[in-house]
Amino acid sequence: MNRILITGGTGFIGSHTCIALLSKGYDLFVIDSLKNSSKKSLEKIKEIFKKDNKDISSKLRFFEGDLKNKEFIENIFKKAQEDDNPIKGVIHFAGLKAVAESVSKPLLYWNNNVIGSYNLIKSMEKNDCQTIVFSSSATVYGNTSEDLLKEDSPLSPTNPYGTTKLSVENLLKDISQNGNWRIAILRYFNPIGAHKSGLIGENPLQKPNNIFPIIINSAFNKEKLKVFGNDWPTKDGTCIRDYIHVMDLAEGHLKSLNYLIENDPQLLTLNIGKGRGISVIELIKTFENVNNISVPFEFDERREGDVCQLVADNSKLKSILNWSPTKSLEEMCIDGWKWKNLNPKGYS
Ligand code: WQD
Repeated sequence: MNRILITGGTGFIGSHTCIALLSKGYDLFVIDSLKNSSKKSLEKIKEIFKKDNKDISSKLRFFEGDLKNKEFIENIFKKAQEDDNPIKGVIHFAGLKAVAESVSKPLLYWNNNVIGSYNLIKSMEKNDCQTIVFSSSATVYGNTSEDLLKEDSPLSPTNPYGTTKLSVENLLKDISQNGNWRIAILRYFNPIGAHKSGLIGENPLQKPNNIFPIIINSAFNKEKLKVFGNDWPTKDGTCIRDYIHVMDLAEGHLKSLNYLIENDPQLLTLNIGKGRGISVIELIKTFENVNNISVPFEFDERREGDVCQLVADNSKLKSILNWSPTKSLEEMCIDGWKWKNLNPKGYS
């Protein structure tokens, strides 16, 4: 079965995507620098399959390393050739993703996200592997007044994280001209939740900036959550986002990879969202209701760099992949809370 390289595969979205690909029989090489994640997520993946009496350990191999190390990447492709199962495609998650950190450390983000991606793509070409699914972000749209964002909406990132994502998108667009590359650029909106088993989930090693783990911590530790602004031009004054279950996002990667493998060389850019805007207050209230738990919060000033609304027009996703996300906001909240309760300290 096709061997796929997953960069950043021990992280939140990467580990959930490994489950989706393993369920379809793919053979995976996972690489990760472990700077922002724990390789224990891979042990938990094996545990999930073992519950179904499936031993996938021979199809899930891990190599610790960094995309800034060209030799490390080259050795991965060579190792795959050693047992006659060369890497057929890459799902590229590896990269730094904290918006605020990217503002204070732009060179760190350009080095990790752009130079690292360049090294990967260069090695792919050298090893005749020209199928890639790239983890991009709705952050490339920047400040927008559009209710629903289309893939051809204006691109104007407002922070170095977003500019590095857009730069890699542009690199992929440039190499797609030579006609042999199969490329899917997936622009994520707001992935939240966890695998239904509660064995893997979002496991930030540093203090999280994004809302969902902060809601979970507030519910668990009763620390007051700060809602950044209640004076936005929305129904309840709080920002609106497009939350998608992380397992739906994982499925979207699987569908995109299969589409690339089954079709001619092309460059495909897709918004991966549910297409439904949810305010911060709506998210908090839904979490409280389905989990029967209180989330203490207070209103605070707006956060620097926040935009009022980011919601996907996901019609292209539906028409090209003949698929759309199915899991509800309630499921996202239930699954995320289950992960926390089963793993209060993350992957301990
Ligand atoms: C969502 C809403 C905040 C924290 C995300 C990721 C970022 C990048 C882009 C990957 C906003 C509000 C948040 C808090 C709050 N990811 N909020 N109190 O801003 O859409 O960015 O997508 O590509 O890494 O974070 O998501 O979860 O940070 O914020 O009120 O303590 O929650 O103002 O309206 P965002 P978020």
